[in-house]
Amino acid sequence: MKITFLGHASLQINIGDITILVDPFISGNPKAANINVDELKADYILLTHAHQDHILDVEAIAKRTEAVIVSNYEIVTHYQNKGLEGHPMNHGGNWDFEFGKLKYVNAIHTSSFPDGSYGGQPGGFVIEGEHKNLYIAGDTALTYDMKLIPLQTKLDLAILPIGDNFTMGIDDALIAADFVECDKILGYHFDTFGYIEIDHENAKRKFFKNDKDLMLLEIGESLEL
Ligand code: NI
Ligand code: MN
Repeated sequence: MKITFLGHASLQINIGDITILVDPFISGNPKAANINVDELKADYILLTHAHQDHILDVEAIAKRTEAVIVSNYEIVTHYQNKGLEGHPMNHGGNWDFEFGKLKYVNAIHTSSFPDGSYGGQPGGFVIEGEHKNLYIAGDTALTYDMKLIPLQTKLDLAILPIGDNFTMGIDDALIAADFVECDKILGYHFDTFGYIEIDHENAKRKFFKNDKDLMLLEIGESLEL
């Protein structure tokens, strides 16, 4: 399993020969100017919620690639009505995809579309694929529901928002790492706008002091599980 950071909360995950994009917000992110949206491959596009900074490039990518959009029922229906492919899920649901097992899990946040229309309830994803297990938290507060994840899944990596203000900040992300029982954390949802700028060294130090590893990738950089 290879995970590439595309800036903000956007990720590319490669499992075998399947390419999954998560929350593509690239053309609106000046920091991600090195990523060419028109060249991204996608078999699936996972969406945690309907906010602009998670869905901006979905339509363009899905139209070009015919990727299957996977999200909550309301978001998937919204895109199916535009003629795009989708697989609707809802909280607590699992599905066996060709890349592995996917579960849509709880997140504490909101989920309106940019025009204010209803985007269902926000979520995160647990992916079990190629013998590696990954949690993508989405935009969320720290929540006790995270404790449910390790009851079923031994995580190899947890991807947590750390930018504060709209989501968890570093101190809550540290507790979230305990809740999901994973010491290897990839931080995302930071630095994109003024509200969510963080001190990288301070963030890494806090995790290190607690015997955990916080990784912050450059945009375009990958890690392999
Ligand atoms: Ni959001
Ligand atoms: Mn967001």
